[in-house]
Amino acid sequence: MRIDILTLFPGMFDILGGTGIFQRAAEQGLVDIGIHNIRDYSHDKHHVVDDYPYGGGAGMLLKPEPIFEAVEAVRQAVQPPSDTPVILLTPQGCPFRQADAQRLAQHSHLILLCGHYEGVDERVRQHLVTEEISIGDYVLTGGELAAMVVTDAVVRLIPGVLGSEDSPQDDSHSDGLLEYPQYTRPADYRGWPVPEILLSGNHAQIARWRRQQALARTLQRRPDLLQTAELDAKDIQYIEELKSRPDEAE
Ligand code: ADE
Repeated sequence: MRIDILTLFPGMFDILGGTGIFQRAAEQGLVDIGIHNIRDYSHDKHHVVDDYPYGGGAGMLLKPEPIFEAVEAVRQAVQPPSDTPVILLTPQGCPFRQADAQRLAQHSHLILLCGHYEGVDERVRQHLVTEEISIGDYVLTGGELAAMVVTDAVVRLIPGVLGSEDSPQDDSHSDGLLEYPQYTRPADYRGWPVPEILLSGNHAQIARWRRQQALARTLQRRPDLLQTAELDAKDIQYIEELKSRPDEAE
């Protein structure tokens, strides 16, 4: 997969290339991340990329020309042409979820555009960008950290990027629920024992316990997720039981 990131602050992305999993994935040829300075696509001698909004108002907007030309340049560099999503990172975007990471991981090429200042000229949204993503209901100084979040969530789903021991199938959110609690040795630490069932060797009972723990944790922390999670009749019955004795929910 190729990911091209368009930004006014390319230095912020140094961290991506030099860290464990990303570095290994790049060395293995599983992912190729290109960082591009939008300013390089500005034609005037001062490399201006922003301007005042028509109609007045506070703040500056990113001009359309350098953004269109930067996207066109990175698109042309990729052969054969593909239906590359052009993603604007903005607090006005749709909330980013695990399902979006899974969908984006199916593409061979992504273009991420980091917004800045008060926003971008609307024609960028209308005629260039194919989707807008927000990583949460808060405002960052720019889209760079959001682009790194999206890149991380997508890259780790590319087959071969994670070792087989950390399978993304078990992640929180991958089945619409939060993950169940996990324990490792020692079996008793400072008088806090590991739940006995995990030491029992009974795989069916362990699976059931883990499912129930995931349901309980999701009900307590993120009940909104239960609306869309894949639940069977047993799960629904267990949730009803938990609701009737909420103090034992976790
Ligand atoms: N840019 C500024 N804030 C953002 C957010 N919450 N998500 C994505 N991009 C942003």
